[in-house]
Amino acid sequence: MRSSQSILQLMIIVFSILNTSLHAIASDPPLTLDYYASTCPTLFEIIKKEMKCSVLADPRNAALILRLHFHDCFVQGCDGSVLLEDTINLQGEKKASTNINSLNGFRIVDRIKNKLESECPGIVSCADILTIAARDAVILVGGPYWDVPLGRKDSVTASLPLAESNLPTQNEGLVTIISKFLYQGLSVTDMVALSGAHTIGMARCESFRERIYGDFGATSGKNLLSETYLNSLKSICPPTPVGEGKNNITAMDYVTPNLFDNSFYHLLVKGEGLLNSDQEMYSGVIGFQTHELVKKYAADPLAFFQQFSDSMVKMGNITNSESFVNGEVRKNCRFVNT
Ligand code: HEM
Repeated sequence: MRSSQSILQLMIIVFSILNTSLHAIASDPPLTLDYYASTCPTLFEIIKKEMKCSVLADPRNAALILRLHFHDCFVQGCDGSVLLEDTINLQGEKKASTNINSLNGFRIVDRIKNKLESECPGIVSCADILTIAARDAVILVGGPYWDVPLGRKDSVTASLPLAESNLPTQNEGLVTIISKFLYQGLSVTDMVALSGAHTIGMARCESFRERIYGDFGATSGKNLLSETYLNSLKSICPPTPVGEGKNNITAMDYVTPNLFDNSFYHLLVKGEGLLNSDQEMYSGVIGFQTHELVKKYAADPLAFFQQFSDSMVKMGNITNSESFVNGEVRKNCRFVNT
């Protein structure tokens, strides 16, 4: 236990040093809170109204937008690249294994963009829309508020290979996932706090099958409630590895699925996390620091809200230097301007 902990610490130090040269998290031209104050003063109202309608219609829409923002920022920085469709000239990120049949919410972004294009044409980038919409999504389901720095440009490129390699997946080990966050300039604390996003939204059977037929029983202990929960998960997600039921879905936080709260961490402490990667933060043998953070956020909802807000700003500040030079404000978030 001790030696594996120090290996992890060492890796974290090495990555932190590498990190400064790999990714400049301090945004190139700095993002500012009042970026659109004179060019599109109604921006926040328009986004808030549209998000309110979407989340009222279906609370899961909050989760879709939040995840979309995360999958945008981890690939070339927050530059709207995740929104781009495949065309003859461009390969988008939507077919990456972490995104296909899984990522959604694009129509909500389209609706916001259309409203903004009629109000202030050619002004607000899709990357900024997504960042504000993610913040509003969190508030609408009971989460914290934070100010959103703005001024991102939309990329004219996307990267399927980076989407495949940068985004963490549910069956990767803790060290791999931590290093993917460090690579983006995000710390272990950021990782544990941002994973708290799994307090809302759903996962597909394909994403949690290994967990429920793996160590779920061992981490959750043998009590009636968790056995009942595990059996219900197994009925949603049969053991057949191919085909059957793979797109069946269930909430990641079965206690308060539509509320942004800290109950996700309570589930981890009970050993009932739905994804392998989530439970690893608490139960993994090398996850001393992550274990302590999970305990802290389970015990202190305000500490979680504060750190989640700070970490969301930090994630939103992963910028694409390339986009500041060659980027644009797309007219349609799905396509680069012609
Ligand atoms: C720490 C590494 C992470 C891993 C391995 C991971 C993995 C996953 C997986 C496998 C799903 C289910 C997808 C499906 O079955 O279709 C999911 C859903 C989700 N993730 Fe993560 N995630 C991570 C971090 C994050 C972060 C940082 C955020 C946002 C800040 C986030 C937000 C969400 C949301 C909101 C959903 C639910 C989406 C829905 O309802 O469709 N995740 N994640």
